[in-house]
This record gives sequence, C-alpha cells and structure tokens, in this order.
Amino acid sequence: MRITAVVNQKGGVGKTATTINLGGALAFHGHRVALVDGDPQGNLTGALKVAAAHGQPTLPAALLGDWRGPATELVVEHSEFDNGGKLDVIPHCPDMLTISRDLDKVRARELRMSRVLESLEGTYDHVLIDCPPALDIMTDNGIVAARKALIPVQLEDSSLRAVKLLLAQIEAIEDAGLRSAPLEIVGFVVSMLERGAGNVPKSMIGRSVLATFQSFPIPIVASVPRGIPITEAWRYATTVQEYEPTSEHAEAFRALAKAVDA
Ligand SMILES: Nc1ncnc2c1ncn2[C@@H]1O[C@H](COP(=O)(O)OP(=O)(O)O)[C@@H](O)[C@H]1O
Ligand SMILES: [Mg+2]
Repeated sequence: MRITAVVNQKGGVGKTATTINLGGALAFHGHRVALVDGDPQGNLTGALKVAAAHGQPTLPAALLGDWRGPATELVVEHSEFDNGGKLDVIPHCPDMLTISRDLDKVRARELRMSRVLESLEGTYDHVLIDCPPALDIMTDNGIVAARKALIPVQLEDSSLRAVKLLLAQIEAIEDAGLRSAPLEIVGFVVSMLERGAGNVPKSMIGRSVLATFQSFPIPIVASVPRGIPITEAWRYATTVQEYEPTSEHAEAFRALAKAVDA
C-alpha cells in the first residue's frame, strides 16, 4: 500500500481535482484506491457526493482516538471497475470543522493520520490524502503519513511563494524526526493550465513561472489544461476517467497514475 499526500497550503490550486482524478485513473488501471478527505471544508466529499452511513465511525473520531477500530470501517464506496479497480472515500463529516484545534490538544498529534491509515494495509493499493489549504496540523499529518507527495501548482507568482513555504515545512518535519525516511516528492502537477499557440502557457506570467518551476530540483510530472471535462465530471460526482475517458484530461491523469505507481 502506498500513501500519497496531495499537498499545497495554497487554496484553489487543484489539490482536490488532482486527488479525485488521479484516484480515478489509478482505479481505472485496476488498483484499489482510497481517497482521504483531509480538508475541513470537505470539497472532495461534496464533489463525489458520498456520505457516511448513519452511525458509521468518522475520521476525526479515529484521529482523536475516540474511536479505535480499523480504518476500513471509515470507508464509503464510490465506484468499481471490471478489472478489480475500485475507488473508495474516507469522507468529511461535521466534526472535521474543528479537527485542527482538537488535534492540537492531543499527544503525538502529527502521527495520528499515519496510525489510522496503517490498518488499510492489504485492503488498498493506493491511498491519496487530499490535504487542506493551510500549513496546519492536518497538513503535517498528511506529510507524516505519506510515502510520496504531489504538489499541485498554478502558474502564478503566488504559487512560487507557497511552494517555498511548503518545502520548508516538509524539511522541518523531517528535521524533527517525525518521518523515518525523507518524503519522496513525485513532482509538481501544473493545474488549470491556460495554453496558447505551440502548447505553451498563454500568458507571459505563466511562461515565466513555468520557467522558475522548471529550475526547481522537483520534476513537473503532469500538466492538466483548464477544461470542461474536469468541471463537468465534478458536477456529476464522478472522475474524468469515467466521464470523458478520451479527453486529454483523462489521458494526463492516466499518465500521472503511472508515475505515482512507479
Ligand atoms: N483542470 C481543471 N479545469 C477546470 N477546472 C478545474 C481544473 N482543476 C481544478 N478545477 C476547478 O478549480 C477549482 C479549484 O480546484 P480544487 O481542486 O478545488 O483546488 P484546491 O483543492 O487546491 O483548493 C475547483 O472548482 C475545480 O473544479
Ligand atoms: Mg481542496
């Protein structure tokens, strides 16, 4: 089982869209995938229109140690493929709204997600954590729990600053000894790319920010154009893999799935 954090404390950069559609692509390739909605705003849960059953245990209860069963009991099913691939979700619930404040009061607070997800071993091939838009304790938990990370970015100046802060945070977590091995940053995912002629970013700013990202020691593993298939799949509570498998967006996520699975 491989755990990947989709992380960037900047909001609106495509974390949730990347988590959903990468999950869809991994499931399409036959993998058993669980998506963790780690954002108190619950956009992933809302997009996929999944909800926990009445009385089902919740992620915040598990993180806080108020409920101690296996994390497989937190899961809600979303979709299944004929090749054995499946997409499940550990959904948002109202108690997620205060999870960061509540976690700050408990011991071993950065390790809670890691411990909860351990019990998914054997049931899933891939777990993707949709991290919140804040450099807070939930993002720290995602960074600690994951073996790999993907960093969605947009080609804007503010994305560069956000990435520098994020990389410093990852380094601080490693320096504090909270991880046994360094986090493997698979790469940047350029989200909502606006292209002009010749397949290059349309704006001067976009081209300039892209050049700066290309100078980082982290590869750009995928570029996803801004496009209707992504927004329509979101509207219809599915992934672009199911909604429009022949689109270039679906193709980009299938390629990203191969990179994450490598
Ligand atoms: N490639 C894309 N094309 C069109 N819309 C997109 C694309 N990627 C993301 N979006 C939309 O942009 C908004 C922000 O993306 P989201 O994934 O929610 O960002 P984050 O999780 O980082 O806050 C969402 O409404 C999402 O549907
Ligand atoms: Mg999000």
